[in-house]
Amino acid sequence: MWTCRISSSLLLLLLFFFFIFFVSSASAANTQNNPADQLVVVLNDNRTAHKQSALYDNPGLACIALQYIKAYAGNCDEVDTKKPADSEFAETFAPNCGVQASTLTPITGRLLGCQSKYVSPSEAFSDLLMKNSKSLDILYNKNHTEVGAAVSGSDGGAPYFWCVLFSSGQTNTSFALEGGVAKVTRPGCFSGASDDCNSANSLYTRHQLWLYAAGAVTLVGFALGL
Ligand SMILES: *[C@@H]1O[C@H](CO)[C@@H](O)[C@H](O)[C@H]1NC(C)=O
Ligand SMILES: *[C@@H]1O[C@H](CO)[C@@H](O)[C@H](O)[C@H]1NC(C)=O
Ligand SMILES: *[C@@H]1O[C@H](CO)[C@@H](O)[C@H](O)[C@H]1NC(C)=O
Repeated sequence: MWTCRISSSLLLLLLFFFFIFFVSSASAANTQNNPADQLVVVLNDNRTAHKQSALYDNPGLACIALQYIKAYAGNCDEVDTKKPADSEFAETFAPNCGVQASTLTPITGRLLGCQSKYVSPSEAFSDLLMKNSKSLDILYNKNHTEVGAAVSGSDGGAPYFWCVLFSSGQTNTSFALEGGVAKVTRPGCFSGASDDCNSANSLYTRHQLWLYAAGAVTLVGFALGL
């Protein structure tokens, strides 16, 4: 009886720490932990070094960049040959993100790259997205006011797509989010939403983590005879 009490308390304690671990890892908001946010930092540093303004990181636009990636359905080789139809922005991308369709603003530039290997955001910027002088023209275009970046592997694995969309919209009124909150979907990370999305787990589905947590809780429940 006594040993049973001890092990029950121990299990409850373990359960408690388990929850603390998962809740904290799921809610920590940190630019350091999001490759899409890091890409925007690299990009803005490069712009300002070339006497261009730093661009506003718009979460609505960034979420749309992630949907844009998803439109390629993992087909890396189509990056240079195909482009999603303009109508997809209003019909699919905006609704998936909770972006109000009436606040969509023309895209003034895009950078898109894909490869099988995952690289750091700064390598993705210089090796994958800055392909030629045309990419530099897009980067330094004076008409951009805002930017949104996203990275995703298909089904949480290779190949990895990196997408940057630029717009000349009014930063506080374009790509407005219903309720002011971006709909976070996995796999994939997008910038501007203070969303913790470290490549070790969130490029995969966060739901998988919660499933593990739920599984563990069930196991502990059985052990306690609840
Ligand atoms: C900005 O990026 C371009 C393209 O990668 C690179 O050639 C240039 O050296 C960068 N500038 C700075 C100041 O980092
Ligand atoms: C900026 O926008 C103006 C007006 O739409 C356009 O005429 C011009 O070509 C654009 N500049 C660049 C560098 O794209
Ligand atoms: C958006 O920003 C502009 C310029 O900074 C300002 O004049 C305008 O009032 C702002 N609008 C809203 C809805 O905050």
